[in-house]
Amino acid sequence: MFDIIVKGGTLPDGRVLDIGIEGTRISAIEKNLTGPAQEVIEAQGDLVSPPFVDPHFHMDATLSYGTPRLNKSGTLLEGISLWGELLEEATVEEMVDRGLAYCDWAVSMGLLAIRSHVDTTADHLRTVEAMLEVREQVKGYLDLQLVAFPQDGFFRAPNGRENLLRALDMGLDVVGGIPHFERTMEDGRRSVQELCRIAADRGLLVDMHCDESDDPMSRHVESLAAETAALGLQGRVVGSHLTSMHSMDNYYVSKLLPLMAEAELQAISNPLINITLQGRHDSFPKRRGLTRVREMQAQGIDVGWGQDCVRDPWYALGTADMLDVAFMGMHVAQMTSPEEMARCFTMVTETNAKIMHLENYGLEVGKQASLVVLDAADPIDALRLRPARLAVISKGKLVSTQPRADATINLPGRPTTKNRRHPISQS
Ligand code: FE2
Repeated sequence: MFDIIVKGGTLPDGRVLDIGIEGTRISAIEKNLTGPAQEVIEAQGDLVSPPFVDPHFHMDATLSYGTPRLNKSGTLLEGISLWGELLEEATVEEMVDRGLAYCDWAVSMGLLAIRSHVDTTADHLRTVEAMLEVREQVKGYLDLQLVAFPQDGFFRAPNGRENLLRALDMGLDVVGGIPHFERTMEDGRRSVQELCRIAADRGLLVDMHCDESDDPMSRHVESLAAETAALGLQGRVVGSHLTSMHSMDNYYVSKLLPLMAEAELQAISNPLINITLQGRHDSFPKRRGLTRVREMQAQGIDVGWGQDCVRDPWYALGTADMLDVAFMGMHVAQMTSPEEMARCFTMVTETNAKIMHLENYGLEVGKQASLVVLDAADPIDALRLRPARLAVISKGKLVSTQPRADATINLPGRPTTKNRRHPISQS
């Protein structure tokens, strides 16, 4: 007896199969699954995917757009300063409310795991208290991983070091950093060293905002790779953003990429935010501000797409839809071959799950019963349409449903049609 059967879904690899769920696990994936079930979801050939995963977000700041005022320059630095003001005013309750509201959006989009950076700058650490509360409240349906993030600098902020350690003691999961925001290159290098050491000593993962700059000489990623290898942290360290790589000298990058691959460093690019924030000092030609995604992947480096911001001091828009993120990334990184477009979908599912070290993720027997049914034929079609999430199942429970977005078209001389936009439905 199954709790749920999802019938006739097209998996990302093109196989059309039924998925049987018992409790919180996938217990069968096969053709023509028989047997009683409490609930049957008819996928009718629609894409069935493992859930979306966002490995880079700021939940403490989300949905705060316009408070205390708007970011006039549109720059990263004005955003940081605005957030500093908000940080002094925001209460725990308010941050919990915003976080939970965002998690509701996320679930409706099939986004069921999020890594969020939590600002540990302020001595009161209300951000940490609030995000731990959100993590606890959503744990039944959404995996929230929290990074201790010294937004104003590990050395540069008055109690940057102490507060980060306190936040880890309170229960945050991952060690963050921001070497390019320290006062000097040397301070940045030392922060990378010390933060990696803290992670090694505590057995934690590392995910640093690294070289989020247009300065081609911002080269902290080199230190991050070197420390990773030196401390035996291979596969446990992420460089987020890495935008300065877009402007680095090609010869230097030819040395850097193998160094990153050797350290099994992973990378996260945040295309919606970096196409918006970077290049603000340029006239023309104007740089795109995205790191070297394809080039890293060609070296075997895992690269994920992250969302970073939704309606906060850095970004006015955002939808909690990882397909929007992948769609933008695909354009800006020019990943337009069929193979590359399909890879963009994999980046916001499997690759991001690997980066977050999620256990039991994926559409396989024995894995956690979390999946999303999309009104699309295949991963590329999903990127093109960014369609309705018809059903979202999290840990064995149907947590969100949405109708198909069909238009009814009435035109002179044409039969009335339903605009089903993907090829399978049109046939
Ligand atoms: Fe970020």
